Amino acid sequence: MLSQPPWVVKGEETASKSRMNFNDLSKDYAEKNLRRRDLNVDPYLQLLQWFDEAKAVNVAELNTMSLATATATGKPSCRLVLLKQIDERSLIFYTNYESRKSKELTENPFAMITIFWHEQVRQICVEGTVEKISEEESQAYFSIRSRASQIGAWASRQDKAIPSREVLEAEFTKFEKQFEGQQEVPLPSFWGGFRLIPNRFEFWQGGGNRLHDRFHYILQNDKWVIERLSP
Ligand SMILES: Cc1cc2nc3c(=O)[nH]c(=O)nc-3n(C[C@H](O)[C@H](O)[C@H](O)COP(=O)(O)O)c2cc1C
Repeated sequence: MLSQPPWVVKGEETASKSRMNFNDLSKDYAEKNLRRRDLNVDPYLQLLQWFDEAKAVNVAELNTMSLATATATGKPSCRLVLLKQIDERSLIFYTNYESRKSKELTENPFAMITIFWHEQVRQICVEGTVEKISEEESQAYFSIRSRASQIGAWASRQDKAIPSREVLEAEFTKFEKQFEGQQEVPLPSFWGGFRLIPNRFEFWQGGGNRLHDRFHYILQNDKWVIERLSP
């Protein structure tokens, strides 16, 4: 039998086994709905329309997305990254090519992203396959980043254990000096973008009485098919 965790007060075991619950945060999302007639036939245009609407109401951190990846044997991992570009066929994010996510994407190209906009009670999920963008594309984006971000990319060997904050700062200073006087900081070979090429999009709008509106677009014979899903 599992032993009782130390924080469970005797006598309260059946009343509450948790240190915290979120029952009082439950709320109803009655104010909005999403109808089939509102949806664009093209999921990329639908995605752009939702981004425009989110921008119009100043949704905070609107390009922050959770990115789920997995090893070849199916062990999952998940983290937040920033969506930097949407082109006509993909969603692009940037990272260190030696990080855990990059290693997983190299051995298993399937990935999924999720975006949540609290202000509009909207969730977007996009899944598909991931590939590295070209070095030219990474270079183009890297060159518009601030010099500090560029040097930061050189200084951070993402995911490697480091003994202290000082070591990281010393690396930053080292590269700052190394590139001093150079107008362009070069693109590190271990840094760049990935594109997620979708085969499924889902648009979720929070609704009243937990009757949320959900639609997905799935690729069938090279055509996007739209279906409403039960929430
Ligand atoms: C709001 C937010 C945005 C982030 N954006 C990025 C990003 O665009 N690229 C990135 O590599 N890491 C980003 N990170 C850090 C990642 O969440 C993560 O810690 C890091 O990429 C290492 O992930 P991995 O070990 O799973 O590869 C962001 C973190 C937060 C909280």
